Amino acid sequence: MKSLSVALADRSYPIRFVHDVASANPLVEEFLADREGPVATVIDATVAEKHPLVCEFLGQLGPVLRVPGGEGSKSLGWMEKGWDFLAQEGIDRTGCLVVVGGGVVGDLGGFLAASWLRGIDFIQIPTTLLAMVDSSVGGKTGINTSAGKNLVGAFHQPRLVVIGNFFLETLPPREFSAGMAEVIKAGMLAEASLFERLEELPPLQPGAAELLEVIQAACAIKARVVAEDEKETAAEGGRALLNLGHTFAHAIEKVAGYGTYLHGEAVAIGLHMAAKFSAETGALPESMVNRVRGLLEKYQLPVTLREPLSTEVLVQAMGKDKKNRGASLRLVLLKSIGEAYTKGGFTPDQLARFWDAFQTPLR
Ligand SMILES: NC(=O)c1ccc[n+]([C@@H]2O[C@H](COP(=O)([O-])OP(=O)(O)OC[C@H]3O[C@@H](n4cnc5c(N)ncnc54)[C@H](O)[C@@H]3O)[C@@H](O)[C@H]2O)c1
Repeated sequence: MKSLSVALADRSYPIRFVHDVASANPLVEEFLADREGPVATVIDATVAEKHPLVCEFLGQLGPVLRVPGGEGSKSLGWMEKGWDFLAQEGIDRTGCLVVVGGGVVGDLGGFLAASWLRGIDFIQIPTTLLAMVDSSVGGKTGINTSAGKNLVGAFHQPRLVVIGNFFLETLPPREFSAGMAEVIKAGMLAEASLFERLEELPPLQPGAAELLEVIQAACAIKARVVAEDEKETAAEGGRALLNLGHTFAHAIEKVAGYGTYLHGEAVAIGLHMAAKFSAETGALPESMVNRVRGLLEKYQLPVTLREPLSTEVLVQAMGKDKKNRGASLRLVLLKSIGEAYTKGGFTPDQLARFWDAFQTPLR
């Protein structure tokens, strides 16, 4: 069985990779065997329906709260329902929460675990590709409020993560492609060999034999970056590098209206833009920009805006990205495929000219 350790001193935890449900459930059982406290589950309602064996198994361990997937569930309303559920079911400080779902239920469930009784243990079982390679590594938990997305939350590391690629068999293809954007990002920012492997392989499908190994490689990259800069305090580089393409992507999501593009689709455009901007302002060869674009398109991901959006509003939105420090606009750029860096000091005019080139499809 494959395993990876996220090295964070006393908060280190293992990520276990399995192919089937028959191997996943015993890992949870094994972890809980040494504990005495109560167990409860928060699960994405679609996952509960499509994976009854997982849901039945968790139901035998304790009470189960079903939460709908989709951004709307990362809300204060669902936090309150979650706290009420934990209170009614008598989950005390010795308790453990099992959180099963995509990034939405993962972020919500993780924040429930972080906030309930000032923090209880939790096990994370991601069920979307995006959640497997991104949100299940690094301990960021949280919800959205009227002030914005992900502004309220906590760092709270799970005690165990179980990644089973069998979950992906039921994931809609568009969600699968969106997750591949984050896998491609991981290769772009820190590991050229992963990027090259994806170029060589035929387009991966949820059932592909190589998929688990690719997911593990992407997780290992994120785990390495997070271990070096857990709370994103490095002056340059560090955890902020994971934001490659995301300053552009967040602006697209916000201006187009959340839900118009899946997060991973906006990230795909953002990755293409980050590569192009790296070529225009730095030393990245244009041939590498074409490779980035080619790999994104191989996974049916968009590389330019589908419909034009106001350049002015996009640039304004970039200025408000919470990853900025002070007034200066910082971006994550590429020296080459596999090597990223952070750079500040870009002007709104420069970015406006750049956005104009991405307003219409290339073909
Ligand atoms: N914490 C972090 O570090 C981090 C990192 C990246 C993204 N995120 C967050 O992740 C969220 C997006 O996550 P997401 O893209 O996984 O969205 P999601 O959790 O809403 O899942 C997408 C859709 O797939 C469904 N689904 C989930 N698993 C399924 C399965 N196995 N089979 C069939 N359907 C399934 C869900 O019900 C939902 O409709 C955002 O809120 C984002 O902020 C967090």
